[in-house]
Amino acid sequence: MLQTDHFVRFERVTSAERTAHGMSATVHTEQLRVDLVRDDVVRLKISRGGVFDEEPTHAVCTDPLANQVEFGFEQDGDRVRLVTSAMVVSIWLDPFRIDVHRTDGTPVIETAADADGHYWAYATLNDTFTVRRRCGGADRIFGLGEKGGRQDRKGRDFTLWNNDVLSEVGSQEFTAGKEPGDPRGDRTSTEFDPYYVSVPFFYHQLYPHGQMSGSFVDNGYRGHYDFTAANEYRISFEGGQYTEYVFAGPHMPAILSAYTELTGRMSLPPIWALGYHQCRWHKYDQAAVEALGQRHRDDDFPCDALWLDIDYMDGYRVFTWDTEAFPDGPGMVKRLAEQGFRVITIIDPGVKYEPGYPVFDQGLERDLFCKTEGGDIYIGQVWPGNTAFPDFATPEVRAWWGELNAAHVQSGLAGIWNDMNEPATGVISSKPMRFEHGRHSHDRFHNQYALLMAMGTTEGLLEAMPDRRTFILSRAGFAGIQRYAANWMGDNQSRWDHLWLSVTMGCGFGVSGQPFVGADIGGFQGNANAELFLRWMQYGALTPFCRNHSETGYIDQYAWAFGEVIHDLVRDAVRLRYRLMPYIYAAFVRASETGEPVQRPLVFDFQYESAAADLDDEYLFGRDLLVAPVDEPGMTARQVYLPAGGWYDWFTDEPHVGRTYVIAPTPMDRIPLYARAGSVIPLWPDAPPSTDGYHPEVIDLHLFVPLGDGRYESRLVEDDGLTFASRDGAHRTTTLTVTRTGDDVTLSGEVDGDGYPEFRRSAFRLVLHGARPATVSHDGVELSSTEGAFHLDNDGADFEVRFSV
Ligand code: GLC
Repeated sequence: MLQTDHFVRFERVTSAERTAHGMSATVHTEQLRVDLVRDDVVRLKISRGGVFDEEPTHAVCTDPLANQVEFGFEQDGDRVRLVTSAMVVSIWLDPFRIDVHRTDGTPVIETAADADGHYWAYATLNDTFTVRRRCGGADRIFGLGEKGGRQDRKGRDFTLWNNDVLSEVGSQEFTAGKEPGDPRGDRTSTEFDPYYVSVPFFYHQLYPHGQMSGSFVDNGYRGHYDFTAANEYRISFEGGQYTEYVFAGPHMPAILSAYTELTGRMSLPPIWALGYHQCRWHKYDQAAVEALGQRHRDDDFPCDALWLDIDYMDGYRVFTWDTEAFPDGPGMVKRLAEQGFRVITIIDPGVKYEPGYPVFDQGLERDLFCKTEGGDIYIGQVWPGNTAFPDFATPEVRAWWGELNAAHVQSGLAGIWNDMNEPATGVISSKPMRFEHGRHSHDRFHNQYALLMAMGTTEGLLEAMPDRRTFILSRAGFAGIQRYAANWMGDNQSRWDHLWLSVTMGCGFGVSGQPFVGADIGGFQGNANAELFLRWMQYGALTPFCRNHSETGYIDQYAWAFGEVIHDLVRDAVRLRYRLMPYIYAAFVRASETGEPVQRPLVFDFQYESAAADLDDEYLFGRDLLVAPVDEPGMTARQVYLPAGGWYDWFTDEPHVGRTYVIAPTPMDRIPLYARAGSVIPLWPDAPPSTDGYHPEVIDLHLFVPLGDGRYESRLVEDDGLTFASRDGAHRTTTLTVTRTGDDVTLSGEVDGDGYPEFRRSAFRLVLHGARPATVSHDGVELSSTEGAFHLDNDGADFEVRFSV
């Protein structure tokens, strides 16, 4: 816990006045600005040295004050109140404190007082600042992005400092001084902190009624979130300006939507990025990579992408190829493309410090590298040894990096993998690395380094290929990273507890604005075994980013590495993912529109169900599938909580009324999976070898009959999956509405969009779950079923189906 004994509290507001967006005040010797961003979002800022930093980070990508919020300004004695239709912001003048309440009186934030009755609305010492807030003993805390342990963060404290977890040197300061037995002393424990990504955004859920509020501190310096005390929480940052967005909620999805309105949403990825990815840190040569591709095709194992780790480079020099191992990189990429594979290469930020190496020479000549205080090129240590680091804080450097990437992918590469971008500097401290020609300290930009690198990379790729959706995978990140890149969870362990960890981490990312996430399937470090690999593949196939990756020096972790039985079972798991592709794609489209997660904790959709809020070993995959991974060896059955509504066992069709616990068998061929009653899950009729060029003539619609009266909406989105043409109408989006009244069920399909050249669909195959009518009426015509399904001619027009249960 940060020591705040000597901090100077701001205790008195000496003048306050109304402004166009709220109010400004003088507090202590600084300025306080309170701006209403929306009816239910307020921004609080306190100047430093009397000056405001108007753009403290690159997280926010819109003008937060673009909309004029209607509000009342009331001053009575020692309190100013800003009143909107959703909340009341109270600024108490003496002693100074800030409270926000919803119009129903429930608290959003309330300044905490210490044992002596002193309020801690804001206190500062030597550039560090802290705020303290009231929090009930049984309240819950969610969010903060990539964090270990349980999803409810209450009772723990966290540091925000992008960290190369397995680096002994990088993690040393966080493991040091821990009591023996404290799991945080071990970088491989599921409780270790901090990880690679920092997102200063969290939710506070009130007990017992469940309302949530949100807090986003727009500050990239090292941060501390302390939820250890029973009745308060503390937020501190070691520099920069206090700029906090407070979200009144009370609903989690609405808070996330407002947060991603500010920090942006995932740009819709190419559909192939949702396929299965095969990666391994291994010294391949060209023939071996092609053989790897061939093997997947020979085995009929769906796969969209093959990845090249650092050994494809010439001596780990970024933007080069080892031409001995890869005499014809572009030829290889082309041949693989003919088989439906995309190839992705790693690009680290560390540029080998080597006069004569063109990337280094250019960077030096054009003054594009980070400097030290004294004006030297900062040197850190990455794979090639001494390396310089591009100064991504400047637009010129981002543009240069974008051009380098665009030139690099000319060889046919489909995407870029950004690693070591915390930035990781090996045995050399990163602290002397400064930004903007040495003007800014390392601390200001450390947590934003990966965000800025991904920004430059994306913009460069878009500049060169404006109509192609980009795919970048990043290890580190900051609030807003979702605009440019997907995240994987870095160097995990081939252990059961790390399989579990990836569930809570994936969900933590999801509620923190980053929907495109996944862990190294099978685990990165250590040897997996058949059972662990199988269970991880079955689960990983139902996560947003699905990539098998492992560290050099450990046993093979290919799909076939654990024998035929496992090979067949993991193939089934990956095939299920490919069959689910239209459903997954629709979930990604939604995420790109609203910011909602793809992998989501139950609390997101069932906030007011206490049992759902505490679940750390099951989640929703998209809105309508509930997944309960097998996260222990030898498990033959597990308990699954099914939240409100109705649920169908995916494999047996057994319906369950929700708000109940069931015991689900977990035979080796599957993990528990449930579909929401009322949903329509669109499936490809088959699992193709890859998504490449796959535009089926028939789409299966699996309709799960509602267990009671109600109306439900699902979606099918069809487009070319590769370009931005869908933005201009080149798509067919079918809204599938299921209505049940008594025994009568109606499914209506309403189509939006102009279509696109590759569209080939001529029919739906409707499969009903929870009803077996002999006939259905399709646009007024009676149809009988064939092999349990109804064939509906449909080439993209509206339709209606009626039947009785
Ligand atoms: C880092 C990455 C890992 C990669 C390795 C070699 O450890 O996290 O995914 O395989 O570097 O590039």
